[in-house]
Amino acid sequence: MRKVIVYSSVHHGNTEKLVKSIAEECQVDLIDAVKQPDADLSSYDTIGFASGIYFSKFHQSILGFAEKNLPDDKGVFLICTYGGSANYKSIEQILGKKHSTAIGKFGCKGYDTFGPFKLVGGIAKGHPDEKDIKNAVEFVKGL
Ligand SMILES: Cc1cc2nc3c(=O)[nH]c(=O)nc-3n(C[C@H](O)[C@H](O)[C@H](O)COP(=O)(O)O)c2cc1C
Repeated sequence: MRKVIVYSSVHHGNTEKLVKSIAEECQVDLIDAVKQPDADLSSYDTIGFASGIYFSKFHQSILGFAEKNLPDDKGVFLICTYGGSANYKSIEQILGKKHSTAIGKFGCKGYDTFGPFKLVGGIAKGHPDEKDIKNAVEFVKGL
């Protein structure tokens, strides 16, 4: 069973922290969708999309990548980090078009200094922490 996670982590590297730990502990390839906006995913059985949440959506690079490169009928899982709350709708809309549904979803807080939060030193400071990382690894192992 080959697995890959396509990720985007442009704010503080919060999501990257999670997926790098996952890749170290599970047999998972990583693709940074910002650096590599296209890839052939046909050889993978299970595909993960991981992103920070920006204006209630997965990062545009992930949405564009999935729209172009996600083959139909794959097992897909979703991971996000967020300052306020998780939101999977943007990517789930694309999965719908590809006849896929998420086989699992995982989200945790991620340090956020966007806009006014910067003035107060940011929110969700220290996240993802060790526990978040452990939970994310367990999530992927359990898929
Ligand atoms: C431009 C921008 C918009 C954001 N919008 C949201 C949002 O709508 N909801 C939310 O919960 N967090 C929001 N955040 C916080 C990020 O989702 C959070 O910090 C996330 O962990 C960033 O992940 P990254 O470091 O992997 O990019 C936003 C951050 C930025 C920079």
